[in-house]
Amino acid sequence: EKESTVSITVVGASGDLAKKKIFPALFALYYEDCLPKHFTVFGYARSKMSDGELRNMVSKTLTCRIDKRENCSEKMEQFLKRCFFHSGQYDSLDNFAELDKKLKEHEGGRISNRLFYLSVPPNIFIDAVRCASSSASSANGWTRVIVEKPFGRDSESSTALTRGLKQYLVEDQIFRIDHYLGKELVENLSVLRFSNLIFEPLWSRQYIRNVQLIFSEDFGTEGRGGYFNNYGIIRDIMQNHLLQILALFAMETPVSLDAEDIRNEKVKVLRSMKPLQLGNVVIGQYKSHTKGEITYPAYTDDKTVPKDSLTPTFAAAALFIDNARWDGVPFLMKAGKALHNKRAEIRVQFRHVPGNLYKRNFGTDLDGATNELVIRVQPDEAIYLKINNKVPGLGMRLDRSNLNLHYAARYAKEIPDAYERLLLDAIEGERRLFIRSDELDAAWELFTPLLKELEEKKIIPEYYPYGSRGPVGAHYLAARYNVRWGDLG
Ligand code: BG6
Repeated sequence: EKESTVSITVVGASGDLAKKKIFPALFALYYEDCLPKHFTVFGYARSKMSDGELRNMVSKTLTCRIDKRENCSEKMEQFLKRCFFHSGQYDSLDNFAELDKKLKEHEGGRISNRLFYLSVPPNIFIDAVRCASSSASSANGWTRVIVEKPFGRDSESSTALTRGLKQYLVEDQIFRIDHYLGKELVENLSVLRFSNLIFEPLWSRQYIRNVQLIFSEDFGTEGRGGYFNNYGIIRDIMQNHLLQILALFAMETPVSLDAEDIRNEKVKVLRSMKPLQLGNVVIGQYKSHTKGEITYPAYTDDKTVPKDSLTPTFAAAALFIDNARWDGVPFLMKAGKALHNKRAEIRVQFRHVPGNLYKRNFGTDLDGATNELVIRVQPDEAIYLKINNKVPGLGMRLDRSNLNLHYAARYAKEIPDAYERLLLDAIEGERRLFIRSDELDAAWELFTPLLKELEEKKIIPEYYPYGSRGPVGAHYLAARYNVRWGDLG
């Protein structure tokens, strides 16, 4: 049988994503012996660079988790020898044909498999795909293309993008990344639900009072204002990362673990969501704040952001799934930049115990006595369950304590970066963690009317100080559903 090769072409090789995530992830996979025996990495960009210069650039950015390990430098040398550079325009058939020639030399007559990672701005996607697929696709193996958001900025532009890509590729060749799906604890959601007896039976409106999906960062958009201002936090985080987590969380049991079966269930949940009401959304934007010696900038202090920008850097929303399992259960999402901490978590608040024998022990705060399951996606990955417990002693005092699975304490092995998982899956043709086009459509259908309304009505965001807990409106939104944000204590 003929041997096969895989070549990975990073289109937009000198960009930030390539340097910070893609090359380090490829190196980590190499270090872990996960890459096929015959592989080559090509950087493709408009700039002129020699192979040596690319290697030099890549070596500087391989500051990933691996660089603390033994024999890292040796492995790095070996990895870098497999990295090459090709300079070309993104819309040039000729330049991609030259790349094709080089790839063929490396493939040496073996079966050729080619992965293109489009690490370029979205307005270049279609040109690059046209040229790569026409001039540099594999003649006897597979050709796959990885793309990352933004996939448009509303239903129409997303549909146009999909249509554009599908002129040159079939759906199976398109790997749409949502890197949150590659995070260890997000992947684990399905294991938690479907392989433990104690969770799945409780996973419905009957026992769950509300679900919270929380994303916060303790830094602003400094340096990326130009991109961010055109999108805002709802498109940047909610419509994709948080909504994807919601779909995995809420889907029905898939027929199997096959990619199509899982994505069929996810898309059903997305299509069962009630339209988002403006009244169920709060938006915010951070303003400058001085703490001690340091003054933190306002969002609009960024030179690439218009002074009168209304782009939200924070949003909270209450969403509902209109199906038998989740009818009436609020799914509360919250995402923000320049907040007091960096965190991504899922919080599941359970209902009250009916006729609780111990209610007297909780005084008036029965809400403080409900069970809560917390899945901390990052940092410091953990899963813990808040339960009521008797404080040891002769009296009868109860408190709420954690049954705690703390990853750092439980597992010696480091957690791989999301891009490692996703790149490996793309190489292996595993599509489970990639977004199918109907999922993408459903996600946009949910958010597009709201986004348009916010923009047409020029809704003014609620201003919150850099480094704070965000706008107080988020608190009122939750309170309307008798909910307290679990992350705020
Ligand atoms: C990206 C967003 O998708 O995710 C960024 O565009 C955000 O705004 C980033 O900072 C967060 O990813 P992570 O993996 O650092 O939590």
